[in-house]
Amino acid sequence: MTEEERDSNASGESEGGSRSEEELASSAERGDGAGREPNRPYGAGTQAQEGPPGSYLTYASYLKIDELLSLQDPVSDGPEHDEMLFIIIHQVYELWFKEVLHEVDYVVKLLLADDLARAQHTMKRILTILKVLVAQLDILETMTPVEFLTFRERLEEASGFQSHQFRELEFVLGGKSQWAISRYPEHEPALKRLRQRYEEPTLWDAFLHCLTREGYPVPKELLERDVTQRIEPSPELQEVLVKVYRRDPALSELCERLVDLDEGLQEWRYRHVKMVERTIGTKPGSGGSAGADYLRQTLFKPAFPDLWGIRGRL
Ligand code: HEM
Repeated sequence: MTEEERDSNASGESEGGSRSEEELASSAERGDGAGREPNRPYGAGTQAQEGPPGSYLTYASYLKIDELLSLQDPVSDGPEHDEMLFIIIHQVYELWFKEVLHEVDYVVKLLLADDLARAQHTMKRILTILKVLVAQLDILETMTPVEFLTFRERLEEASGFQSHQFRELEFVLGGKSQWAISRYPEHEPALKRLRQRYEEPTLWDAFLHCLTREGYPVPKELLERDVTQRIEPSPELQEVLVKVYRRDPALSELCERLVDLDEGLQEWRYRHVKMVERTIGTKPGSGGSAGADYLRQTLFKPAFPDLWGIRGRL
């Protein structure tokens, strides 16, 4: 920043020479077009990069707000008041799942390219989103069991059980399962993506290859393992990881972020099952499982068992 820029910032102008809030507000009141330009129609300034001449990009057209806001379609009669929350919260979860998958795929790429700094940075973003995913359950817990019952029957068999993005996330973190794939009908469009993820190496595999390139003797059979199988603990790898933690602060930080991710997902599962218990008690799930009893079996199963296995030795 030059001396001049520093002076102008100190006198209240923000970066880029834009006007102060007061100046903009008084200009808007005068309506002289110099500040907020209140009479100018939205989007009148920039020709859209796509679309016919004369079409302009706006907040609504860029983000497809009209389409987005038309996607909440309650099925209950009335419709019941609480169904809107139920729909929106699930849609928001699916959007975040999409973003988390996008970022995890990026971390895999970065690890394969040995870009540890950027991988760490991206992990931090994923972990921050995960905290939001856990916190969002608080909102759903404002819905009482009786409120849920006002529309539950209308959900038929629909359940988060069928969330293919959640299964994709499990797969990329190593929780591969043919059973999860077999539950989708052949005509399900998401099946292709799920099968592809099933065949692909996981985040853990990318991490092991990265460890090797950093000079650590990762057992060959782990580097060549069948990536469609779940990640099993390996005493030999744990020896290597203990060395990483003792000698290599940068790499051990990365290990810690993987533990955060693993713990964060386990935390989501725990909070989800508690929310389910308080909302439907011991009733079966709409997806056809035993409900909370089934969900409890998915708890406390780490994605990266070796990172948990070494902690008593550090
Ligand atoms: C009142 C709210 C909710 C209730 C009562 C509920 C209930 C259940 C139940 C009983 C299951 C077991 C499968 C079944 O038989 O249906 C399940 C699974 C699941 N739910 Fe929910 N759920 C709720 C909200 C949510 C939300 C907001 C999400 C966010 C996406 C979600 C995601 C999932 C996922 C991913 C599974 C599969 C978990 C696994 O198989 O490990 N649920 N839910």
